[in-house]
Amino acid sequence: WPRSTRPRGADLVVGGLPAAELAERFGTPLYLLDERHVRDTCRAYRRALPGVEIAYAAKAFLCRGLVAWLREEGFGLDVCSAGELELAALAGMPGERVILHGNAKSGDELRAALRLGVGRIVLDNPAEIARLAALVAPRQRQRVMVRVVPGIEAGAHHAIRTGGEDQKFGLSIARGDAEDAVLRAVAQPHLELTGLHCHLGSQIGSVRPWLAAVGTLVAFLAGLRDRHGIVLPELNLGGGHAIAYRSGEHALDIESFAIDVRRRLARQCALYELPVPRLIVEPGRAITGPAGVALYRVLVVKRTAHRVFVAVDGGMADNPRPALYGARTTVRLVGRAGAPGTRQVTVVGRYCESGDVLAADVELPEDVRPGDLLAMPAAGAYQQSMASTYNLVGRPPVVAVRDGRARVLLRREGIADLLARDVAE
Ligand code: LLP
Repeated sequence: WPRSTRPRGADLVVGGLPAAELAERFGTPLYLLDERHVRDTCRAYRRALPGVEIAYAAKAFLCRGLVAWLREEGFGLDVCSAGELELAALAGMPGERVILHGNAKSGDELRAALRLGVGRIVLDNPAEIARLAALVAPRQRQRVMVRVVPGIEAGAHHAIRTGGEDQKFGLSIARGDAEDAVLRAVAQPHLELTGLHCHLGSQIGSVRPWLAAVGTLVAFLAGLRDRHGIVLPELNLGGGHAIAYRSGEHALDIESFAIDVRRRLARQCALYELPVPRLIVEPGRAITGPAGVALYRVLVVKRTAHRVFVAVDGGMADNPRPALYGARTTVRLVGRAGAPGTRQVTVVGRYCESGDVLAADVELPEDVRPGDLLAMPAAGAYQQSMASTYNLVGRPPVVAVRDGRARVLLRREGIADLLARDVAE
């Protein structure tokens, strides 16, 4: 739950406001984002990582209000589409703080990045290098990084592991692809290669994979220096910092991450007599995830031979994580006390498939009934941003809460919004 969350009697108070009141006022399903929690997390990152450039991974959740907070907190932004790029610019994020990613960037995306003056473009394949160089204006130089594959498996689910050899991102160090790309990039007069990027995966709870990556990357940097006289000043370690979704789970401790990674980097660089590169990190989930709460209204309680289903008014379209990654989460009844006894239920959504499960085998008060309000924590990342309009149901709103005040960041998508894009007679 966000740090501002206090159980008040039967209710849950987020950012100084009772969840039940917010659900009445804005309707359900509803996503709340605790502004203070986001800002406090940003500050904790800045304190733990002084001198490190921190670019929030926009894919976790993005809207203009959030970009304003991040800008004020001294964060940059990692974007991976023209849409994220345009939104960043619209929200006043300085171009030089933006990093553009993508394994298949379109010409329009590259042109938009150059026009908006992004700080770095991360190259993901050899062909992209000449393609980008050809688009840079005659007297300009674009700063770039090469995304490398260190050959390290880490991350909570195979769909979110990006450090191993058999996946689509980056250029393999082991196969020599990364070295080729570095030489190609350095040979382009309109590109300035500032360093290497690697993103191991997502929801990684131990610092060990990053320590291994630092070892591999610094050895590779030393090889570049020895074989080609190339010394690169920056190292981007990507994101992937785990958060807790259920009690008993542990988030990655950012202070130990900072200490251990910096120590390993200093030691490895000393070993090879290399200058210590400037670090960049790109946390997404860890910044907004824990600050979010999802609220749903119970519509149906149904008993079957196998289990009790509690069906709510949202589901896999606003939170596809359980269906995609088998993700597990906590559920709480709010707005009334409920019976003292509990029973095991499966919370499902309203979408038309049986895989639409939000939380399997969770305990809720035994008298849980239609009209009840349920809250799920750690809902601030990869839920709204991955939401769809499946079954032609509009996406829920996101409301920022802070010090007893609520402000709509993203409004609810209505049927009129959905019908508006259907333009055929
Ligand atoms: N940097 C790069 C290049 C990335 O691809 C990602 C995430 C991040 C940073 C941020 O990772 P984070 O700190 O948020 O873990 N939809 C999945 C997660 C996909 C992550 C994709 N890339 C999920 O809900 O678990």
